[in-house]
Amino acid sequence: MSQFLDIFKGIKSCCPPIWFMRQAGRYLPEYLEVRKRCKGFLDLCYNPELAAEVTLQPLKRFPLDAAIIFSDILVIPHALGQKVSFEEGTGPKLDPLSLDSFEERLTFKNFFKNAAPVYQTIHLTKSRLSPSKALIGFAGAPWTLALYMIEGEGSRDFAKAKGQAFENEKVFTALLDYLSEVVSLHLIEQVKAGVQTLQLFDTWAGLCPATHFEKWITSPTRKIVSNLSEAFPNLPFIGFPKGIGTNLGEYVTQTKISGVSLDISTPISWATENLPSSLILEGNLDPVLLVAGGESLKKAIFSIHEEMQGRPYIFNLGHGILPQTPPSHVETCVQIVKGLR
Ligand code: CP3
Repeated sequence: MSQFLDIFKGIKSCCPPIWFMRQAGRYLPEYLEVRKRCKGFLDLCYNPELAAEVTLQPLKRFPLDAAIIFSDILVIPHALGQKVSFEEGTGPKLDPLSLDSFEERLTFKNFFKNAAPVYQTIHLTKSRLSPSKALIGFAGAPWTLALYMIEGEGSRDFAKAKGQAFENEKVFTALLDYLSEVVSLHLIEQVKAGVQTLQLFDTWAGLCPATHFEKWITSPTRKIVSNLSEAFPNLPFIGFPKGIGTNLGEYVTQTKISGVSLDISTPISWATENLPSSLILEGNLDPVLLVAGGESLKKAIFSIHEEMQGRPYIFNLGHGILPQTPPSHVETCVQIVKGLR
């Protein structure tokens, strides 16, 4: 019934299903309008009525095949009791976690109560979404979450957080283990509330050294995938380990994830040659091409389709939509993809 979900059942449709990472957000005037009504970004994430409205906004404009629930990966540290805020123009700010005291500082006690609005958003959205559209739930992967939690803010290299991880590998690994459990429980609750597929964002996976890749990226991810498949066999699960290059092969075989979202630097030809043919591929279009539009965008769309060589895939970007993206370019992109054969 849903072109998106059919892909995972081996049912191929005429053209690839399409959605965009960060498809709800600041490039849409109607999002900015709703955003103005909330004091902080987290207030919007925790307001089921408004979060459901924002989730559905991109689908009202464009014939996309999936809606991704409007929330944020940093809802997890927040629901565990860490102070999180989003300041205009500077990104997230967290009260930095010290590795030594993470067990005292974080508490699961009120997690489900704190995160309840997310599950209510899912209920509301699902009741308003056509069954031909898939509803995507998500979480941040433990590594990416831990980097933000320790660093206290976004960073180019997360040197402070990584420094603490190397100095205290045992405790850092324990934190990742703890987060693997929390992420699993949060995702299970999302599925119970109505999402039909999941995406795990490991935006900073590329900052993990190869020597620790198994311990800090694949092992926590494998635990999450395994917990979810135990609870919900055959649930489509897409990983987005950004920037890991050829480690993607190991990521896929070790985690048993059912799909991967490719960043802009992974050649699709490499992915089709080196990753299992049963794996669902997604992504890869440079978000800047969606800003540029015109012939360069068109050429890039055709090139992705050609490189996929008839293999079922999901059309998406290699990272999130940029705020300066003209909505008309998004519309053109969806139209072109819907015409692909
Ligand atoms: O439409 C969707 O994709 C659903 C909602 C969504 C948001 N964040 C909303 C958001 C999703 C899936 C995320 C994931 C997320 N959040 C990631 C992983 C994916 C990625 O983009 O790498 C990360 C690393 C975060 C943490 C985060 N949230 C940062 C670093 C920022 C600041 C940067 C920015 O774009 O402003 C946010 C804020 C945020 N999350 C916004 C939105 C729409 C913008 C805040 C605003 O509207 O004021």
